[in-house]
Amino acid sequence: MKSSGSASIKPFMAKIDPDRLREIQRRHGQSSARYAKYADVEHWLEINLPRVQELKLDGAAPKQILDLGCGAGFFLFLAKQSGHSCVGLDVGDYPLSNDLIELFGIYKLTWRIRAFEPLPDFGRQFDLITAFSAAFNRNADETRGWTVDEWEFFLNDLNQDLKPGGQVLLEINSGKDNRYFAEEVREFLLKRGGRVEGERIYFQSIR
Ligand SMILES: C[S@@+](CC[C@H](N)C(=O)[O-])C[C@H]1O[C@@H](n2cnc3c(N)ncnc32)[C@H](O)[C@@H]1O
Repeated sequence: MKSSGSASIKPFMAKIDPDRLREIQRRHGQSSARYAKYADVEHWLEINLPRVQELKLDGAAPKQILDLGCGAGFFLFLAKQSGHSCVGLDVGDYPLSNDLIELFGIYKLTWRIRAFEPLPDFGRQFDLITAFSAAFNRNADETRGWTVDEWEFFLNDLNQDLKPGGQVLLEINSGKDNRYFAEEVREFLLKRGGRVEGERIYFQSIR
């Protein structure tokens, strides 16, 4: 398996059972399935480490973190090593992602986010809700992004899962055409207190 071997990721790689990882890579590494690229665990941990650092999770007091569209769980695995309590949410369609989630020991809810449908009951509220390279904000046939009404439902629902003072960072995959948000959606997100920069929306709190 290709790896750039950066020193910063080595302590995290040392936490992973090498035999189980090799076995997963052997089974999925040459696959043409969607997200088979996640078999290069070292590379994707390197991609995710700056996310953890930017959110100042390394060295922070323990937080409750929810990651929407958590994929193989790279971000949550790193956050967990800093003592945070992590929950992932994703569909269950991708065997490699499922195997890595299990290898990393991440608690994940199998769930598909859909417009106008509330998220599951997590039984707790979160200090931080994230989504990276996310694509849940598309209609069923993926031909369009959510409308203002669909975003409004989602944000109102998400707000109930946030502790007072809880933060939200959503990085939404803009797709190949690099279209981020329709102007009316962008205006709506700003009105709700979001800071919108390219494909990311950051809420210190949702209004
Ligand atoms: C590009 S991957 C990113 C995975 C992870 N966030 C990361 O950065 O490594 C997008 C993820 O979003 C998930 N996803 C897409 N649509 C979703 C939906 N409607 N509900 C939940 N998860 C979804 C996919 O299964 C996939 O794991």
